Amino acid sequence: MDIQVVDTALGRHRDEAVVLFAAQGERLRKRVASAGKDFRGGYQTLVATKGFGGDAGQVRTLTQSKDERVPTLILVGLGKAADITGQSLRHAASAGARTARELGAASVTFVAPEGRGSAFRADHLAEALAEGAVQGLYRFQTYKRKPAEDGIERLTLLVDAKSLARARRGAAEGQVLGEAVTFARQLGNEPGNTATPTFLAEEAARIAGECGLDLEVLEEDDMRKLGMGSLLGVSQGSIEPAKLIILTYEPKTRGKKKPDTIAIVGKGLTFDTGGVSIKPSAKMEDMKFDMCGGAAVLGAMQAIAGLKVGVRVVGLVPASENMCGGASYKPGDILRAMNGTTIEVRNTDAEGRLILADALAYATSKMRPRPKAVVDLATLTGACVVALGDGHGALVSNNDGLAQELLEASTESGDALWRMPINDIYRAQLDSPYADVSNLGTGGAGTITAAAFLEKFTGKVPWAHLDIAGMAWTAKKSGYFSTGATGFGVRVIARYLQARGS
Ligand code: BES
Ligand code: MN
Ligand code: ZN
Repeated sequence: MDIQVVDTALGRHRDEAVVLFAAQGERLRKRVASAGKDFRGGYQTLVATKGFGGDAGQVRTLTQSKDERVPTLILVGLGKAADITGQSLRHAASAGARTARELGAASVTFVAPEGRGSAFRADHLAEALAEGAVQGLYRFQTYKRKPAEDGIERLTLLVDAKSLARARRGAAEGQVLGEAVTFARQLGNEPGNTATPTFLAEEAARIAGECGLDLEVLEEDDMRKLGMGSLLGVSQGSIEPAKLIILTYEPKTRGKKKPDTIAIVGKGLTFDTGGVSIKPSAKMEDMKFDMCGGAAVLGAMQAIAGLKVGVRVVGLVPASENMCGGASYKPGDILRAMNGTTIEVRNTDAEGRLILADALAYATSKMRPRPKAVVDLATLTGACVVALGDGHGALVSNNDGLAQELLEASTESGDALWRMPINDIYRAQLDSPYADVSNLGTGGAGTITAAAFLEKFTGKVPWAHLDIAGMAWTAKKSGYFSTGATGFGVRVIARYLQARGS
């Protein structure tokens, strides 16, 4: 979709649909009038019958005109003026764009809403509207015999002249972020028989070429040489070879001092049967989404290249299946990770932490320059879904500064995070009588003990873990989400890296 920002007056701009956003009780009479006199009556009726009050999520369409050149008018509610955030603007943009598409429009105009606060700063506003529209219009149709033929080809944002430059910058960022999110969603929605570790490596190669990233893929032979027994242990039950995907983004620094390196690591478990500790069959199909942390890392790498962030970033995705069969690893097996730590496998379904262990050890002990921080994302625990549901991802970190930076990026981006504690009470749950560490906690707090396990592979590098198990996919269409993968994590990571490099 082509996105443009102009300062043309509404009455002089012609698209097939026009979206007007309104807060609760906001009067749109003037704006409606400037869209063409044909709508005045319809709007007055709507207001008089209380058919449109500007409630969040409310959408009303005015199509009275017989003149085909007059666009369909779509009114979208923003909710209480005082409560409007970037996030509500994104959802509203999604609703407006979807409605325009449902009505068959190929081009749509958004009239920039007015209001107070940071969400309405021209760049923030344009960013939210562009990003929300791109996200909302995404659909997964790869396997449909008859993919839908309708589609919005052009989105025009109308702003006032003094906001033009900032709004253009914001809209460009919003488009980059929105497209990175839909890329991550697309990877997540691909079924396990397509989205294998090899497929993820191919997709990484594709974006490396398109975005100018360096790519290295470690094969199982390389992993053996490096001593990555933990990742290899999980993968040994699968006929699909494991991959460790490593993408590097180098900022253009123009003679300034060397930029810091940040590592991001995403769980790329392309299908999780649970292994010999097999999962129940109900909803097992959802375990195709167990690579969504890896997809978020690939999406974030695409985003930061587009945003041209000022920090050097290495994105790592350990990719593997977790299958049960004659060659599978078993409960009781002891694996040796790349950093020498031995792991007693008490449950083969706690495999995500095992593949992340070697990737984290590689990022924090092998890579040069050593990263200043490492952040991992993973659909790691069902316990996280119990604790936070689909409201927040869990943030666990041993570094308050890093945690704070991520929480700020979370608020700005709309990828909601909630911090959980980590201390020796939880770490003690991982003691094993047979090896250095067990892959299973003995008590409650499964999300935290899983994090405590990961921490053992991060050396002295400041580390944060995002458990996105409850956020990575959704069964219901809501806001800018459609059924399936959400792309959660792309935006918070991209925002964090953008702030880190500025
Ligand atoms: N991929 C799952 C976690 C998961 C489950 C995410 C359901 C989203 C929805 C992970 O590999 C797993 O199986 N975790 C186990 C860990 C347990 C064995 C300690 C879990 O959460 O049950
Ligand atoms: Mn599992
Ligand atoms: Zn898993």
